[in-house]
Amino acid sequence: MAENRILSGMRPSGRLHLGNYFGALKNWVKLQDEYECMYMVADVHALTTLAGSDQVSTIANDTHEMVLDWLAAGLNPEKCVLFIQSQVPEHLILSSLLSMSTPLGWLLRVPTFKERVRQLGEDEEHLPYGLVGYPVLQTADVIVYKANKVPVGIDQVPHIEISREIVRRFNRLYGETFPEPQPLLTDSPMIYGTDGESKMSKSLNNHVELAASEEQTSSKVRTMVTDPQRLRLTDPGRPEVCNVYSLQKIFNNSQISNIHELCTTAGIGCVADKKNLSDGINSFFKEFRERRIKLEEKPEEIKEVLKAGAEKARKIATATIEEVYSKMGLA
Ligand code: TRP
Repeated sequence: MAENRILSGMRPSGRLHLGNYFGALKNWVKLQDEYECMYMVADVHALTTLAGSDQVSTIANDTHEMVLDWLAAGLNPEKCVLFIQSQVPEHLILSSLLSMSTPLGWLLRVPTFKERVRQLGEDEEHLPYGLVGYPVLQTADVIVYKANKVPVGIDQVPHIEISREIVRRFNRLYGETFPEPQPLLTDSPMIYGTDGESKMSKSLNNHVELAASEEQTSSKVRTMVTDPQRLRLTDPGRPEVCNVYSLQKIFNNSQISNIHELCTTAGIGCVADKKNLSDGINSFFKEFRERRIKLEEKPEEIKEVLKAGAEKARKIATATIEEVYSKMGLA
């Protein structure tokens, strides 16, 4: 059993933003030097909410754009395995087999499921079966590689908890087969969107893309909400309630005490402060963007990386399925 194998995934959401970077991708890059890492595009998971809608037509392109970000950020296919979930059908097989021993009640109680149902506003009769099974598929993703660690954000911890329960039950019924996956939490800063209110997210359109041009970055930053009580240039600002300030801590940390001083004494206005922030973001992502532009010219290479990744992944996954078939009494 691989002692230190990590699996994680992201649904294909297209170009990533600052929240995705600091919440996950930056950590993924670091982990590839410490563990055996498998990172996948969770395209089947995307179908749990998109199936049959217009949005499915963008899955392929969103996958491509997201993987460009992964590579430009430093995920290295020589160090980790990068692949698309649907190209390794063993995930689907294992999910289906695990569903035989997973009580429905567990799935209906997952907080993210209840949340989703509220968002979709569907009555229970019409909920897709696949949406209820989301955590079963996610468990299969992890354990088909017998991975024991899953880097996730705090909001995903209930999914890991239920994975552990699914694994315990399987092991009890069929004999010790899978390790119980552990969440690997990183304390990453919460990144708020340009509205200064909600978590940065593409669906709220309050995001700044990593791959944005310098001009696009500046114009997004210009729209950021700052201290709402600071109406005039001569009003002192309150950095502790200002989202621009919280981003300054990340992007211009070396000047942070000076920025604090200038803001609280009305020595600098929000417009100039934002200009400084977008300069900080632009210089932080300068090399990322240069690498990305080079990668954009080689779409075939991205396909190759993902294909080779899926081949490597399948070697491990098919062995697991063989073992599970035999333990479950299948031919
Ligand atoms: N549910 C995760 C998300 O929404 C994506 C995901 C799918 C995942 N399978 C996974 C994450 C397995 C960790 C491990 O972002």
